[in-house]
Amino acid sequence: MSKNIILTGDRPTGNLHIGHYVGSLRKRVELQNSGKYESFIMIADAQALTDNAETPEKVRDNVLNVALDYLAVGLDPKKSTIFIQSQIPELTELTFFYSNLVTVARLQRNPTVKSEIEQKEKFKTGVPVGFFTYPISQAADITAFNATVVPVGEDQLPMLEQTREIVHKFNSLYGETLIMPNAMVPENSTAARLPGIDGNSKMGKSLGNAIYLCDDAETIAAKVKTMFTDPKHLRVEDPGNTTDNTVFIYLSIFATPEHFATFLPEYKNYDELTAHYERGGLGDVKVKKFLNEVLQETLRPIRERREKFAKDPKAVMEMLQNGSIAARKVAFETTERVKRAMKLNYFN
Ligand code: TRP
Repeated sequence: MSKNIILTGDRPTGNLHIGHYVGSLRKRVELQNSGKYESFIMIADAQALTDNAETPEKVRDNVLNVALDYLAVGLDPKKSTIFIQSQIPELTELTFFYSNLVTVARLQRNPTVKSEIEQKEKFKTGVPVGFFTYPISQAADITAFNATVVPVGEDQLPMLEQTREIVHKFNSLYGETLIMPNAMVPENSTAARLPGIDGNSKMGKSLGNAIYLCDDAETIAAKVKTMFTDPKHLRVEDPGNTTDNTVFIYLSIFATPEHFATFLPEYKNYDELTAHYERGGLGDVKVKKFLNEVLQETLRPIRERREKFAKDPKAVMEMLQNGSIAARKVAFETTERVKRAMKLNYFN
């Protein structure tokens, strides 16, 4: 009972990419396999609809894609409860109750929601209420499963802060009922926000600068070729910059000493490679060739597992159905507790 509980999730609006992998998925698998946590992994289809209401088929199709990405990286339904948000109606009930505890001004101050609203062209004519209030629904997701730990990327920290405020307010008004969650972000700040292949600070589908977990070998190789390096590093002899250099940023995250030993034995490790590049005399082509080998090695087993699971989509959907049934039991208990605390238990 005193076990730590994890809740985390992703919006099913596209395939997951290597930014998701190093920012969050990799950690989730590690936590799952540590045996120290009970994990709930949610495909946030209802939240995805808050800015995709016109294209429900896109959200629906990506539920399976995200589930396949989960299984591919090693999330395991025997160890984690993997489920679909919309199949847990208690979450909307909790959202409705919590919305009384949050002011409009507070939502307007949420920096993630604020920047998402500013970025979205289609919101210029008006912001859907559902989108504006999704931090409240995210508080429902987290508290419904009594989560103590929420492993997320940096952009989700404001959601956690807002959830903690709701928990605090609820408990002080109605008595100790909800569990206070904590965020867990990657220790490595580069991993927390992997740039796109074009050097843009964010990797994303709409930006067209992502490497996906399902990309085939040729696609990965082609993407690495186009990757952003140091624009001033024109000739091999020129000294190069490695700090704003996407190829080097990726190597710092993905390249292990074993990769060096296998594919580039002239250098023992990342530091030796960067020193040579900065001194001059090391060309981009060679470094990119190495990054390609490293990414191929890292992504091949993930892609192969994904292909295996993709052969039986029915089994994957069944896994999600079972996970949703198990998750609902927990959310139901929390909701009963919440209603009792709010004096809404008329008949028992
Ligand atoms: N907002 C998250 C994302 O965009 C998805 C999500 C929904 C989530 N509910 C959550 C993440 C609860 C952590 C906890 O990817």
